[in-house]
Amino acid sequence: MKEKLQKIREEAMRQIEASEELSKLNDVRVAFLGKKGELTAVLKGMKDVIPEERPIVGQLVNETRAAIEEMLEHTKQKLERAEMNFRLKQEVIDVTLPAKRSRVGHRHPNTIALEEVERIFVGMGYEVVEGPEIEYDYYNFEALNIPPDHPAKDEQDTFYINDKILLRTQTSPVQVRTMESRPLPIRMIAPGRVFRSDEVDATHSPSFHQIEGMVIDKNITFADLKGTLAEFAKELFGQDTKVKFRPHHFPFTEPSAEVDVTCFKCGGKGCRFCKGSGWIEILGCGMIHPKVLRMSGIDPEEYSGFAFGVGLERIALLKYEIDDMRLLYENDDRFLRQF
Ligand code: DAH
Repeated sequence: MKEKLQKIREEAMRQIEASEELSKLNDVRVAFLGKKGELTAVLKGMKDVIPEERPIVGQLVNETRAAIEEMLEHTKQKLERAEMNFRLKQEVIDVTLPAKRSRVGHRHPNTIALEEVERIFVGMGYEVVEGPEIEYDYYNFEALNIPPDHPAKDEQDTFYINDKILLRTQTSPVQVRTMESRPLPIRMIAPGRVFRSDEVDATHSPSFHQIEGMVIDKNITFADLKGTLAEFAKELFGQDTKVKFRPHHFPFTEPSAEVDVTCFKCGGKGCRFCKGSGWIEILGCGMIHPKVLRMSGIDPEEYSGFAFGVGLERIALLKYEIDDMRLLYENDDRFLRQF
């Protein structure tokens, strides 16, 4: 019996020492001290021991139990300490590490250019208005005196939603909506997104932005248009900038013109930037066609007006000397940060 107890004790000690986790240690406790454990089995066998030896064996069993318990407790504390140290080491916070910089976005060149254009026109007393990107054929074409067989109405150029509804191809429909809804006189600009069925390349995109401008009052003449756009060009590209009006055709204006500005790179001498001509085209404009005024309920005998349309990307590309429009749509912040 004595030897058996000695063996149990040694085996328990060996297993306790080999336990590397608290759960293993608990298994060992159950195996030796549990209800069905080895030591308990010995106690149950006491009835076979001769009465005189019982106290001795009993004492031995108790000693063994105490020794095992002590070793278990000791090892448990050791493992708990190790686990705590491990956790502390893992969760340590190095307060001396430099903080990660949070990335802050940057204003887009389009936004910067738009704010500049808005600043100029708001300074001249214009209101900034908006219209819907999904538009009726009526506002986008018909009310602007664009005939039903006009090439711009081709599905090759325009995204149609159905016969009557489309993605606006220009911001000019906002002219009509403004004429219908606002009292006269009107001075407004209308920036916004427009859509055309174009392939993407360095100068084209199926979606880009325009800024429409319109003034309607009594006695508005072409001279007002020229003066306004000349001032706009100077504010935008520098005080030395000159403008040139070339006759053109738009269905909604009569007369119509395209406007060039002197190249701000070479000052008009001719360079690679202006392809040698000294001039750069920036917008379309004209005196609002009497038919357009009349369709929106304005009497062309009493009122007249001018309008213009500028490509926002075109301005951003020119102003910041960006040579590929696609860069404006990629939103790579290494690019955006430069402006
Ligand atoms: N809507 C024209 C376009 O997309 C630009 C334009 C030209 C607008 C002349 C106007 C204008 O208001 O008078 O090409």
